[in-house]
Amino acid sequence: MDSTTKNSREELVALALKVSKNAVAQHSNFHVGAALETTQGEVFTGCNVESDSYGLTICAERVALTKALSEGEREFTRIAIIGIQCDENGNPITEDDEWYCGEPNQTGLGPCGACRQLLWDHCRDIEVIGATPEGEVGNVWQLAELLPDAFNYEKKT
Ligand code: THU
Repeated sequence: MDSTTKNSREELVALALKVSKNAVAQHSNFHVGAALETTQGEVFTGCNVESDSYGLTICAERVALTKALSEGEREFTRIAIIGIQCDENGNPITEDDEWYCGEPNQTGLGPCGACRQLLWDHCRDIEVIGATPEGEVGNVWQLAELLPDAFNYEKKT
């Protein structure tokens, strides 16, 4: 933990895991939770919300981010993300080697491309904590690593 972060990575993963249980994932049964920390140490959480018109689905990261932004928050330190493949009853599938996220050797869920851009737009180069489905801290990245040469739309000073 550095001086600008008030919650440990493990605490953020625990909050992401907790909110993932609220996932509205009737199509994929992939339960995602995200916990976004502000510079003040407040944490905004979100889960994925799927639509019957599939393309309208909203990722957990974007739910957490828009909740925070709409409460007036503008400065962020890190986000933790967890994804758990469940069966149709919402129970985690533990013995399933057909599903993985990211690279085969990657531990921890990374955000999708659209979320990387939106996080970059509003949080810039925050830490991204990918959690394993078991709720452990996995890969830890800086967002700039996940979105190199990002699109910036800024007025020159
Ligand atoms: N999903 C997220 O919420 N975040 C990600 O980073 C990856 C994908 C959701 C969208 C959809 O509800 C389900 O996971 C399967 O793609």
